[in-house]
Amino acid sequence: MRYMTRTVDLPGGTALPLIGFGTWQLGSRAAYEGVRAALDIGYRHIDTATLYRNEADVGRAVKESGVDREDVFITTKLRPQDARHARRTLESSLRLLDTGYVDLWLIHWPTAQDELVPTWRELLSAQEAGLVRNVGVSNFSPAQIDLLTEATGRQPAVNQISWSPAQHDPALLDEHRRRGIVVEGYSGLKNTDLRDPVLTGIARRHGATPAQVVLRWHLEHDIVILPRSSRREHIAANFDLEALTLTKEDIAAIDTLSRTR
Ligand SMILES: NC(=O)c1ccc[n+]([C@@H]2O[C@H](COP(=O)([O-])OP(=O)(O)OC[C@H]3O[C@@H](n4cnc5c(N)ncnc54)[C@H](OP(=O)(O)O)[C@@H]3O)[C@@H](O)[C@H]2O)c1
Repeated sequence: MRYMTRTVDLPGGTALPLIGFGTWQLGSRAAYEGVRAALDIGYRHIDTATLYRNEADVGRAVKESGVDREDVFITTKLRPQDARHARRTLESSLRLLDTGYVDLWLIHWPTAQDELVPTWRELLSAQEAGLVRNVGVSNFSPAQIDLLTEATGRQPAVNQISWSPAQHDPALLDEHRRRGIVVEGYSGLKNTDLRDPVLTGIARRHGATPAQVVLRWHLEHDIVILPRSSRREHIAANFDLEALTLTKEDIAAIDTLSRTR
């Protein structure tokens, strides 16, 4: 099997693997087993959050996988309700993950408007202290991102937002691209009808599954993917996207599933 090893460089110089393993809603055992399976299959990027309550399981799985910590990109996220004690929350994340640093720390979703900049400063200060290699946001609008950048001169490396064929919004992608911000798309499988005839037709022609078609379509738009599964065969299939080459026509047909236009 060939593995996807493509990465995108973040401003700090860290390479972010384009395929991450999502862990939302994976309880203790499923998170541990899922991360072990993902690392075994070749994933080198794991997405967790304080909210998911599985950082300890993710950390143990990384440790016991035998893969070097330096070779795994770990993201965790700060809940807005923890913003006032951000550093303490990060220290707890690091303890649970059993690591000295995370590769990416995100504000999980926007705080109240007047807390946005102070919270961003907390992330920047953690980065300066070497506790996190990159900092970013999730579920932010371009205007909210601009507020952070204008106040501090430092812009988020990443915005993690919900993305799927039905939500495809080229103008919004462009807003991120113009600023040099990497888009990570979440819930791309969950928010897609995998029985849609456009997807099943393309999948059939390429000998792939509709889920693989959706994931590969994200990559064609330079969107980092974070598929989550508790089934090893899905975890493997979601990573095995190398051989699936979508044509321009395929991509355009999937783009038309968008409801944002
Ligand atoms: N920042 C945020 O606010 C935010 C919000 C939501 C999610 N996220 C992140 O993004 C990740 C992904 O999003 P998500 O967990 O909402 O949903 P998702 O990955 O889009 O979809 C997960 C669902 O798809 C199924 N699935 C996975 N692979 C499949 C395949 N090859 N064929 C058919 N079905 C498949 C899974 O079932 P099986 O287990 O049966 O395979 C599961 O029911 C999360 O885990 C989390 O890390 C972030």
